[in-house]
Amino acid sequence: MTRIAIYPGSFDPPTRGHEDLIRRSLLLSDRLIVAVAVNVSKQPLFGVEERLAMLRTAVGQDPRIEFVSFEGLLADFARRVGASVVVRGLRAVSDFEYEFQMALMNRQLHPSLETVFLVPALDLTYLSSSLVREVARFGGDVSALVHPAVAEALRARFAK
Ligand code: PNS
Repeated sequence: MTRIAIYPGSFDPPTRGHEDLIRRSLLLSDRLIVAVAVNVSKQPLFGVEERLAMLRTAVGQDPRIEFVSFEGLLADFARRVGASVVVRGLRAVSDFEYEFQMALMNRQLHPSLETVFLVPALDLTYLSSSLVREVARFGGDVSALVHPAVAEALRARFAK
């Protein structure tokens, strides 16, 4: 049986933390679908296609990984692609309540879909896309936190 996992998120932009989680997720799955959510309530900095392109560049080619976007409920998307596992990163206590709520709601909507939480590398624990955006917006150096292509995209976006 092929075990399909989904790693969903906004990835606005993808960070070294996301890359770390993608690599760790491959230990749990035969196929990993990295899924960029389209209809999140937040106004994204990058369009969906830009985020997918950045992910592809940052992670590189691997026949086990697919990068796609999805609209609507994650639970419905998981059914459509035949995934049995959702992977989420758990960085700090502050993530816990939101992640717990989301995992329970997804179970309500899709009882056989399991959510698995992975802990990122220690040096990436306090990293988030929103902090990266904030630092880049004011010209700070994010080169240690994101792939060079993402750093360049941020520079270009905020140079405007
Ligand atoms: O990177 P993020 O912003 O923390 O990812 C959140 C995401 C995209 C995984 C979550 O908002 C989501 O699953 N959105 C799809 C819509 C949905 O299913 N909402 C109900 C989840 S309980």
